[in-house]
Amino acid sequence: MRLTEVAQRWLAEIIQEGDVVVDATLGNGFDALFLAQKIGEAGVLFAFDVQTQAIETSQVLLADEPCQQYLLLTGHETMKANIPQHFHGHIKVIMLNLGWLPNSDKSVITQTKTTIQALAQSLELLTTKGRLSVMVYPGHAGGDDEAKQVMHWLEQTCKNSNTLVYKAIILPNRPAAPILLQVIKL
Ligand SMILES: C[S@@+](CC[C@H](N)C(=O)[O-])C[C@H]1O[C@@H](n2cnc3c(N)ncnc32)[C@H](O)[C@@H]1O
Repeated sequence: MRLTEVAQRWLAEIIQEGDVVVDATLGNGFDALFLAQKIGEAGVLFAFDVQTQAIETSQVLLADEPCQQYLLLTGHETMKANIPQHFHGHIKVIMLNLGWLPNSDKSVITQTKTTIQALAQSLELLTTKGRLSVMVYPGHAGGDDEAKQVMHWLEQTCKNSNTLVYKAIILPNRPAAPILLQVIKL
């Protein structure tokens, strides 16, 4: 099973119809579609990407999904400012799949600084028992340093908290393979 599927299955364990969820790296919309299908008509989806192509492709993919959808052409580091206050602390799951948009401009890639800003905001926005999943790509150019720093930041942040549980899923003997990071907010 691909790690992206592992991430989705882990989040699916807790998502219910009507939940409020976030895809912080919309890309081609596959993760957002998964989320939209889980939350149904009563749910609310916020999604972020810095590329027009990502927003447009995803709008088409999500066109038949009845949930409330906010696909925002802005960086995930503005997440807290762009999600209405009354949802803060009530978001059930947040997904980040770092790196670049497949089949697109590889120079537009997530950046460590803004990724960590987005992670810090995510941990505030999640509800109790909410889950955060982050896919990092140590094998990609530019992804190695981001993966290391993101893992270090999450590990330290969760270690210093009574309410955050962190786990990294690392495939054995494959140093360049993606890594799935999971956080549960107790
Ligand atoms: C690996 S793709 C995401 C894949 C996506 N989840 C899917 O299901 O297709 C990473 C995406 O992050 C976007 N990105 C880069 N910097 C960003 C930022 N600061 N905020 C939000 N998205 C960003 C890229 O434009 C790219 O579309």
